Amino acid sequence: MGTDVHTADRPPAGPAIPPHFAGRPIVGAGIDLQRDFLGTLLTIAAGPSPVTKVVAGPPGWRREFYLTSHPDAVGPILSAPERWVKQTATYEIVRRTLGNGMLTAEGDEWRRQRRFLAPVFTPRRIAGAYADIIVDETSRLADRWDTTTGRTVDVHADMVELTARIIGRILFGADMTEAIRRITRVAFVNEALMRRGLVPHPLPLAVPTPGNRRVVAGLREIRSVASDLIAERRRRYPSGRSTADDAQDMLSLLLNARDAENPTDRLTDQEVADQVLIFLLAGHETTASTLACGLVELARSPHWQAVLHSELDNIGYPPASADLPRLVWTGRAVRESLRLYPAAHTLGRRALADEILCGYAIPAGSDVLISPWVLHRSPRIWPEPARFDPTRFDLPDGALPGGSRHAWMPFGAGPHTCVGMQLAMTEAPLVLAGLLRRFEFTTELTSVPLTAAVSLRPSRPLPVSLRAR
Ligand code: HEM
Repeated sequence: MGTDVHTADRPPAGPAIPPHFAGRPIVGAGIDLQRDFLGTLLTIAAGPSPVTKVVAGPPGWRREFYLTSHPDAVGPILSAPERWVKQTATYEIVRRTLGNGMLTAEGDEWRRQRRFLAPVFTPRRIAGAYADIIVDETSRLADRWDTTTGRTVDVHADMVELTARIIGRILFGADMTEAIRRITRVAFVNEALMRRGLVPHPLPLAVPTPGNRRVVAGLREIRSVASDLIAERRRRYPSGRSTADDAQDMLSLLLNARDAENPTDRLTDQEVADQVLIFLLAGHETTASTLACGLVELARSPHWQAVLHSELDNIGYPPASADLPRLVWTGRAVRESLRLYPAAHTLGRRALADEILCGYAIPAGSDVLISPWVLHRSPRIWPEPARFDPTRFDLPDGALPGGSRHAWMPFGAGPHTCVGMQLAMTEAPLVLAGLLRRFEFTTELTSVPLTAAVSLRPSRPLPVSLRAR
């Protein structure tokens, strides 16, 4: 009784100040974050507080941000994009270097772009034309693997190539062989941009240090891959209009799209190029990491492979989108791979005004990191969090994975939830099904070596041995 009564001895509870993560003397968590970003986030989050203030770097050369690792803090931030904006250091870098496509756009501009994209990601298109491309490209890879039977492949390199081919055909109806070679050569840009986001005042890219020159050249190359593909597409169809044959590819949909609220409005060529670039990058590395890490986990587990094989033996070959409802354990294996290896490992937002998060005061202008990586590996939420266990997703109707709404959030939450989610959740199980139907996998890897670039990716090749079934 009376626990909420305030007396002179006990002042009304006001917002508390989040505990401070000190790390090392003077430099705080700076060096640790640079050396091992993912491990350091887990160390910080292991503390008892749902919100921690992190200081990285020596005085005068410091980045400060807050890390929250509590599912209850996620909803209030991600569902209020007008108060929590994408103006963090990392998003600014992505915006400056890759243009203002839908990943970085905000407010009315973002709403306009999302309206334009609605017809591009309809369930009918995903289950139809896009799924056909996924199945076809997966069968081609399986045929190629057949000739390497008994040998070992790097599943990461092969998944990057496969997912790039898939998104290339979905976007442009184009053969991506040459484009993939070019994109792979500049894969280091992903990591370089992440490192820039971690230091407080990165040298402007215009300063011609050897490192900067390499990043600038890499970015130019990525942009020109996208613009070459668009130019090639325009050469084939100079009017920009689609024909019956290519009416399904995303580029023609974008070139022809009109805003449902303002039918005279169209995307400019620059806007189409920005959008395409983001889809090209966001649309393959993420799915590739999910698949590659998932394949390693399955290769390490004869039990889970057997479960999936027996499910797959009851459907025809190649598995098609109509089979997805029956690929129950394959779907759970994908979800578990997304839990352990969330490609978007950390999301950032900046508070426009003073905010209160889980009872803690967050001053206006602060950056807050929400980390699916941390949430997905929290022992408070997931028993034995490092263990690959698809049964975590074998839940009664209405139950939530991890027991609460944002405990599992590989695609984010709120209005900015991943626009490619349905595509990824069609692609990943269909690829896994198509490959497992044909092969058994083994590996000597005991874990997946990871690096936190802008997206989470394997840091070394992932050798896996194949045996045709
Ligand atoms: C396994 C695959 C994928 C994962 C784990 C993933 C994850 C995410 C996450 C967490 C966000 C939210 C970012 C934030 O709120 O700050 C996001 C947004 C986004 N993703 Fe994905 N993604 C995947 C695949 C894709 C694909 C296939 C595409 C496009 C073809 C795509 C395009 C985008 C775009 C455009 C946004 C921004 C959406 C908005 O702000 O409205 N993603 N993604």
